[in-house]
Amino acid sequence: MRICIIGVGHVGLVSAACFAELGHDVVGVDDDPAKIAALSAGEVPFYEPGLQDIVSAGLEAGRLSFTGSHAEAIPGVDAVFICVGTPRREDGAPNLAYVQRAAASVAQLADRPVAVIEKSTVPVRTGERIKQALALQAQAQGTGMIHRVVSNPEFLREGNAVEDTLRPDRVVVGADDEHAHALLRDIYEPLLAVHDCPYVATDVRTAELIKHSSNAFLATKISFINAVARICELAGADVQTVADAMGHDARIGRAFLNAGLGYGGSCFPKDVEAFIHIAADLGYDFGLLRETERINREAKSWPIAELRRLMWNVTDKEVAVLGLAFKPGTDDIRDAPAIDVIEDLRAEGATVRLHDPVALHQISDRWPDVVRCASAEEALEGAHAVVVATEWDEYRAIRPERLAELLTYPVVIDARAVWDPVALADAGLSAATVGQPRTEVSVL
Ligand code: UGA
Repeated sequence: MRICIIGVGHVGLVSAACFAELGHDVVGVDDDPAKIAALSAGEVPFYEPGLQDIVSAGLEAGRLSFTGSHAEAIPGVDAVFICVGTPRREDGAPNLAYVQRAAASVAQLADRPVAVIEKSTVPVRTGERIKQALALQAQAQGTGMIHRVVSNPEFLREGNAVEDTLRPDRVVVGADDEHAHALLRDIYEPLLAVHDCPYVATDVRTAELIKHSSNAFLATKISFINAVARICELAGADVQTVADAMGHDARIGRAFLNAGLGYGGSCFPKDVEAFIHIAADLGYDFGLLRETERINREAKSWPIAELRRLMWNVTDKEVAVLGLAFKPGTDDIRDAPAIDVIEDLRAEGATVRLHDPVALHQISDRWPDVVRCASAEEALEGAHAVVVATEWDEYRAIRPERLAELLTYPVVIDARAVWDPVALADAGLSAATVGQPRTEVSVL
């Protein structure tokens, strides 16, 4: 199969490399010339385990190539995957201008009827708009060519994207005619031959809704457990044991029940907001998701509230913040909850001493007042308090006795539950751990 991928960001590049790995001929096209030059030279512009290897293998085998020219990429292919960004607009709705531009480009340049496949996360009924855009362009050019529109959402997590693509939990394909379904089945056949998973063949609108519903449900699961965490703190109970015991029920499952600082990243916050907007446009008030968002905002402001409780004034204090990335295993800081924590501390006049093992380069000239630390120990040394914002393994490895030695005041805000609360108390630390019984404020 000959495949074109429009937009080689995180989703597009992983998809391109994985389709090449499955034996297809793939060309990736992107408007960013620097990215195309780097990729053509075999350099992957972001960290994703296993991706470099399959990009290099695809380039070497001649099955994978990159270009900045749509006119070079589109003619001759059977399928075009649209993987461009859908950034938030001011009002929370996704901006679909790049999707429309990609569709127009296919209509202008395709030399045969192709399948135009949405992989970017888009609102339900975007498929119809793409179809309309394709038809209008075909009319304008007088070609009369009819392209098929397909929705094939991705469910890949950053840090696990190659594995999630090559060994997915399910493949979802939405199309409105048999020919398009047959084409997508051919594309996925090499994957299904070696990996047994459900293949959900449905219509375009249903497939579009599956993606938003999945992300919104996972985000709601996280907000649910974060609300339970607040109750555990007030009631003197342990949220981790609650989550473990709930998770033993196969109907619930333990995944995505880790209480913490709330969800972040480039997907959940944007997708929940977009889903609320889409539902409202269709005439449904998705109040449950508005509450999911509210609890998420509350989760992000938990550290500053706990700091005030444990040390009264945060003004003029030095606070070590451990972790900036939105989750461990990535240097991505898009919508990272740590950003809210840092902003709260700065707003209160505290000095932030920030450490992250891989993500510090992302804030080159943002926050000149924030002290960037090369190690966690450097951030902790002399700080009045510490907030853990990302659960990197190296933070788990810091012993509470060492924390007590390094900190000026013994105040610990463990928003990701990386340390054992009993061990913290035994080391003489005044600690708040997410979802754990509140300790009395000790005399500092
Ligand atoms: C998410 C979904 O997990 C993917 O299935 C989906 O394809 C992707 O969005 C997308 O739409 O493209 P990702 O954003 O990489 O993937 O990150 P997750 O691993 O899902 O984590 C999202 C956020 O939730 C992180 O901030 C994480 O710290 C938080 N989280 C996750 C919790 O606070 N508690 C949990 O139990 C799990």
